[in-house]
Amino acid sequence: MTKYIAAIDQGTTSTRCIIFDHSGHIVALDQKEHQQIYPKPGWVEHDALEIWDRTQEVTHNALRKAGLNAANIAAIGITNQRETTLVWNRRTGQPYYNAIVWQDTRTDEICNQLAQEGGQDRFRARVGLPLAPYFSGPKIQWILENVPGVREAAQKGDAIFGNMDTWIIWNLTGGPQGGVHVTDVTNASRTLMMDLKTLRWDPQILSILGIPESMLPKIQPSSFQYGYARVVLPGVPVAGDLGDQQAALFGQTCFNPGEAKNTYGTGCFMLLNTGTQPVQSQSGLLTTLGYQIGGQPAVYCLEGSIAITGALVQWLRDNLGMIESSSEIEKLAASVADNGGVYFVPAFSGLFAPYWRSDARGAILGLTRFVTRAHIARAVLEATAFQTREVLDAMEQDSQVKLTTLKVDGGMVINDLLMQFQADILNVPVVRPKVAETTALGAAYAAGLAVQYWSNFDELRANWAQDKIWHPDMPETQRSTYYRRWKKAVTRTFDWMD
Ligand code: G3P
Repeated sequence: MTKYIAAIDQGTTSTRCIIFDHSGHIVALDQKEHQQIYPKPGWVEHDALEIWDRTQEVTHNALRKAGLNAANIAAIGITNQRETTLVWNRRTGQPYYNAIVWQDTRTDEICNQLAQEGGQDRFRARVGLPLAPYFSGPKIQWILENVPGVREAAQKGDAIFGNMDTWIIWNLTGGPQGGVHVTDVTNASRTLMMDLKTLRWDPQILSILGIPESMLPKIQPSSFQYGYARVVLPGVPVAGDLGDQQAALFGQTCFNPGEAKNTYGTGCFMLLNTGTQPVQSQSGLLTTLGYQIGGQPAVYCLEGSIAITGALVQWLRDNLGMIESSSEIEKLAASVADNGGVYFVPAFSGLFAPYWRSDARGAILGLTRFVTRAHIARAVLEATAFQTREVLDAMEQDSQVKLTTLKVDGGMVINDLLMQFQADILNVPVVRPKVAETTALGAAYAAGLAVQYWSNFDELRANWAQDKIWHPDMPETQRSTYYRRWKKAVTRTFDWMD
C-alpha cells in the first residue's frame, strides 16, 4: 500500500493539513482560519478549543480529498506558530484562559521589571533571547499572576503549559485520557526558559519567573516518536514537531552551516544554520534551535524575526478597507512607478529584530498631497523588503558570511513586485522553490525521518527544485537612498509609549 505523511501546520491565522507523498509533492491540502481576538490595544488572543476543532476538521478534509485513511499515513508531523502560550487543565482539557499570541505585548511591564536586574540581555547568554513580550515565559507568568486559581492549580499539578505544538500533540494522543505532554527543542528555545546547551529547562530562570517546572512539557528532539494518535488518525505515530520557522528551514533543506531561508507570512523570519554550536549575536538577532533529529547533536540557528509583514497587507484590507483581497495589493502597488516618498514602518507590536523596541509604534512618513492609496500600497510591500534587509545586514555582521542567494517561501512570495524589490534592496538574488509550502513540508520530513519513510538528508535534498529566481536590478545610488530613508523613518517610531 502506498504511504504518505500528514503535516499539520497550526499557524497564526489558520490551521492547515497537507498530505505529502515520498517525493515531497502535495497530494491534498485543507485549511481553515480561526478568530483573532483583540480585547485591548496590543493584546492578541486565540481560542485554543476552536484551534483544536479546526485541526480535526482540516485533517479529516485533507484525508477525504486525497481519498485516504489512517492506514495510508506513515506518520504525522506538527508545526506551529511559536511562542503562543496556553495553560489548561490536564484532567478536563479545558483552557484556563485564551491562548496569548506571540504578537501580544501585555507582558511589556513584566519584561521591564525582569530587566531591572541585568538589563534586557539578562538571560541571553543562557537562552539566546532578549527579554521581550514576544516569548512564552513572561506570558505564562502573566497567566499565573492574573487568572484566578491558576497558580493553585499549577501547584497541585493540574494546570499545564504548552505552545500550540504541545496542545495539539496532547489532544491528538489522547487529551485527558492520557495525552503526552511534550514539546521539541525548537519550540522550547522560544520560551526564554530553555538552556541552549543542555536543552533542559533552566531551574534558576524558572524560579525567577515563578513558574513550577511540573507544568512544563518534556523537551524532546524534533524528529522522534512522541506517541500515537488516538483521534483523527488513530494508531498513526506522531513523529515530528518543529516551530514553523524552523520547519521552513528544514523544508528548504538548509542542512549545512551557512544556509539560510526567509519565510514571508504574518511576519518574516530569516534563519541561518550555524551548525552544532550556538552563536551569540552582537547585532540584535536571536540564537535559537534549528532542529534535532533523534539522538543526534542539535543544530542551532541565528534568527532575524520581524513581527509584521503579511499582517500589514491584511491590516490594509481589514482595518482600512483599502483593498478587498490581499492579492489585490500587487496590482495597486504596480500602478505607480515608486513609493512617491512614502515609508510605512509597521511597528504594531513594537519592533523585533534587530531593534527589540517594545516602545515603538507604527508610522507612515513622507506624506504629501501627491500621495495616493497606490503609493501607500507600495510602501506597505516595501516595508517587508526593508525590514528583511535590516535582518540580513545583522546576519552578515554576526556570521561574517556573505549570502550569495536567499531562499524564500511563505504566502507573500507569489508577489513578483515584492520579490523583485527584495532582490533589488538586498542586492542578492532571491530564489523560490517549486514546493512553496516548506513549513508543512519540513514537519513532514521530520516525521518521515523518525519512521524511516525517508532515510537521509540526501533524499530530502533531491526533492528540492527551483521554481523562480529574481536578480537584483537597481542602481546602487537608488538602493542606498531608499534604504537610508527607511532607516530614518524607523527612528521616528521609537519612544512612542513613554
Ligand atoms: O514566531 C512567530 C511565528 O512562528 C509565527 O509564524 O507563520 O504563523 O506567522 P506565522
